Order: sequence, then structure tokens, then C-alpha cells
Amino acid sequence: MERILVIGASGQIGSELVEALTAKHGAANVIAADIGPRSLHGAANYEMLDVLDSNRVTQIIDRYRVTQVYQLAALLSVTGEQAPLKAWTLNMNGLLNILEIARERGQAGKPLRLFWPSSIAAFGPHTPAIDTPQLAVMDPTTIYGISKQAGERLCEYYFSKFNVDVRSIRYPGIISHRSPPGGGTTDYAIAIFHAAQKGEIYPCYLGPDTTLPMIYMPDAIRATIELMETPADRIRIRSAYNVAGLSFSPRELTQAIRQYVPEFDISYQPDHRQAIADSWPHSLDDTCARADWGWHAGIGLQQLVEDMLANIKASSGALHHAA
Ligand code: SER
Repeated sequence: MERILVIGASGQIGSELVEALTAKHGAANVIAADIGPRSLHGAANYEMLDVLDSNRVTQIIDRYRVTQVYQLAALLSVTGEQAPLKAWTLNMNGLLNILEIARERGQAGKPLRLFWPSSIAAFGPHTPAIDTPQLAVMDPTTIYGISKQAGERLCEYYFSKFNVDVRSIRYPGIISHRSPPGGGTTDYAIAIFHAAQKGEIYPCYLGPDTTLPMIYMPDAIRATIELMETPADRIRIRSAYNVAGLSFSPRELTQAIRQYVPEFDISYQPDHRQAIADSWPHSLDDTCARADWGWHAGIGLQQLVEDMLANIKASSGALHHAA
């Protein structure tokens, strides 16, 4: 039986991951943890926890006899640029704390399986942008991307040196409608749906042809859990796997939204985030994820747009009703 700790459980990925893990393993076996007030997302347990407090992380792992940790607490690409030292400290030391705990426990015969998210932000302007291969030049330009690249090296190091069973995905931009994203460059692809639903013109901070790799949340959650359920001897990549969902530009997304909201309009006002987006790939080659653990994306652009609009409409209706 697995006992699963999710650190960063109130975030965009964490909140939906906790729900999915609870459905799979039972509420009693999932411990949601974050720095804010209690927020269970279906789990039976909540712990207020700062991942930088290594002693308390260890205590919680011991108390619940945890077998798997998802360490999701991080600052993203845009917020990271506003506070680079804070982003570096949280992103690196958060990961290092978990890796160290897993190393010690492995040596004590109590192995932990770890998940840590990498990102397309680990790539940079000299990375081949189209069908970016698993192994490529990586010269990230943001502190967030630098922390992801260094984190990938750490994961591989702790696996090869100490046999820590750590697994990772280079997430594309994740699109979802439940919890808001936390300060990323790809957030436009969520905000645009809220504008369309409200009948507003969306002021897009990226230019019309800025193509980026994206993935719809249900696919991102499925990828994460499938990777974590794969037998350890099939995981050949211990840095982080390329995982492709779909790729589109603001112009293409606008056209897709107009099929459902014909009057929807967008204006383009590129800002400092354009340079970040320009340094990232347009699309990813995920051959390794397909070969090693059978990954395939399920959700295309039309289904994503239809589902986002329907869910945002339903939740704004519910809000309206509650007001
Ligand atoms: N969605 C993230 C960001 O934009 C990329 O990992 O920062």
C-alpha cells in the first residue's frame, strides 16, 4: 500500500493531482501539504509545511510512513524573475531536501519514490525549437529554467550515485480551469478562456505566432501518475522526460475559441514575457516517454477548447448563483 505526500498541494498541479491520487489510493493514504491554510482536495490529511524545513518534512514522512513524495512547491518563470534569489532557494533547496531525505531513507532500507517537475523552461535559445529531442543543448535564460536544468542534473546524480528512485517530466505549459496558475509565461492560454467567457477582448502579452508546447491538465495528471507507476527498471531517463501534449500559438488558439465564441477578440501587446517564450521550444519529441512507459497524449486542441469553455462557464454560473 502506498502512502503519498504531495508538497505544493494547493497549487495548479498539486490540487488536481491530490484529487486523482485520492481517487486511486484512498483519501486516508494521501497527505496534502502546503504553506497555506488547510486545503484537502479530497485527501484525508493536511499538513502546513514549508519544503525548506527539512526536519519537519522528515517528521511528516515518518509519522505517515510515506512511500512516495511529489515535491511540487516552486516559483515559476515570471514570478521567479521578480525574486531570483528566492526562486533559486526554493526551487533548488526544496528539491535537495527531498533528495537527501530519500538518500538517507534508502540507506536505512526504507526507500522513497520521488516525483519532481521539470519544465520546457529548462531549454533555451540554442535548443532546436521544433521537435526538441530528449537530449539537446540546454541554455535556459530564466532563473526558473536554470533551477530546472540544475534540478535535472541533481535528480540524475542522486539516482546514479545513491540509487534514489526519482522521476521527472519536462512539463509543457499546463492548461486547466480549477486552480489558477502561479505566474508562468504560458498562463495566457488560461486567461484567454476567462476573457472569452466574459465577453472581453483579451490583451495577449505574447505575439500572435508564439508557438509553445502545451498540455491539458487531465493529460498532465495522467502522465505524472503513469510515470510514477512504471516499474523502476523501465525508467531509463532519470533527469526528466520530454512529454508532448499539443502545440499552438495565440492566433491558433483564438481561431479555435472562435468556433464556439464567434465574437471573441484578442489584441496583441507583447511585453517582457515575449523574450522568455521566444527562448522555449515550439514542440517536443517525446519518443523516450513513449518507448519507456507507453506515454501518448490523448487530448487535442478542439477537445481542450470545448472542455475549458464549458467548465469556466459552469463555474462562473455557480459563482454567480452563490453571490
Ligand atoms: N508553465 C511554466 C511557466 O510558464 C513553464 O513550466 O513558467
